Amino acid sequence: MFPVEIKENVYWVGAVDWDIRDFHGYSTYKGTTYNAYLIIDDKITLVDTVKNPFKEDLISNISQIVDPGKIDYLIVNHVEMDHAGSIREMVNLIKPEKIFCSAMAQKTMLAYNLPADYPYQVVKTGQNLSLGKKTVQFIETRMLHWPDSMFSYIPEDRLLISSDAFGEHWATSERFDDQVDHNELMVHAAKYYANILLLYSPLVQKLLADVQKMGLDIDMIAPDHGIIWRGRPQVILEAYDRWSKQITTNKSIIIYDTMWQSTEQMALAIADGLIREGVSTKLLNLSRNHRSEIMTEALDAKAIICGSSTLNNNMLPRMADILTYMRGLKPVNRIAAAFGSYGWSGEAVGQINQYLEEMKFTLADPGLKVNYRPNAEDLQKCAALGQYIGQMIKEQN
Ligand code: FEO
Repeated sequence: MFPVEIKENVYWVGAVDWDIRDFHGYSTYKGTTYNAYLIIDDKITLVDTVKNPFKEDLISNISQIVDPGKIDYLIVNHVEMDHAGSIREMVNLIKPEKIFCSAMAQKTMLAYNLPADYPYQVVKTGQNLSLGKKTVQFIETRMLHWPDSMFSYIPEDRLLISSDAFGEHWATSERFDDQVDHNELMVHAAKYYANILLLYSPLVQKLLADVQKMGLDIDMIAPDHGIIWRGRPQVILEAYDRWSKQITTNKSIIIYDTMWQSTEQMALAIADGLIREGVSTKLLNLSRNHRSEIMTEALDAKAIICGSSTLNNNMLPRMADILTYMRGLKPVNRIAAAFGSYGWSGEAVGQINQYLEEMKFTLADPGLKVNYRPNAEDLQKCAALGQYIGQMIKEQN
């Protein structure tokens, strides 16, 4: 790739990772990017670095604009390895006069064994850094999504460099939102929110309110992954408002795993009942759907219905995987139910219920179990459960 000027004298100098397919458990089936930004001013400033294997891309991009040795400042908005993994090499190359970061970022860099004698300069929300013609305002965004995270805002350019927030895992040759398919962009943005930020939704609400209170004039949002929002940054700000309020729709998802298709037959019958009630319904077989795709579907689903056969006195392992993952991401205010076929012990339904109760979901049923293969009466019970949940959804939405 090559650098792209996103505002006058502000350049994207990051890297595109076309190959990554697993980002610590998140399915990045279309790759990702590691965005870094170079500001040319009296004080030449690099904002963030890239994942270590991509450091040569970063250096090459910077070198097409300026000798990296001429960079004065390094701003570290976030220390997760996909942005800070090449700090050591970049500091050796740049020898920056100062490294600006939050107090938690400094602490974390030391915990990652970076040298204590780096020229760290800890900054806080509200502090300004003059680069010459441009100013950087720092905004700490603790736990969005790490304790060290912060934004860098450049008022002269109405530019918010937003670290992980407002990003997507999507490798593209294009850099801006108006150059790509909008619907696909929003699918990737929703997936990113559902899998990375959903648990921090109350903090996102607070951050959006704070940004409004601070009166930041923003016409471009440049995240550390994926596409840069220019012209209409309110599109992603409004989406974050909606997602962080966990607003659900007339939709249900049925997540299931099955050994000999009995639990699958139950899932299909429950779906019939839901569809009969006019509820948009998705069947998500765990052997076919990745956990991060399922969480994306869960983002706006009012009902989350989970089914598993019992194997060796337990739910099937893929069901334990998705329930553990989902519980960590903290979806709220959902209707739920558990179901499954069993042979002789039948613990799976009770175990699923424990997870659903921990997530404080409203259980529509104590748990629907079928011995071995569902008969016509069992399938009617499943359809009736689907209809009942469908009615609950319509009442609550
Ligand atoms: Fe993209 Fe939290 O790192």
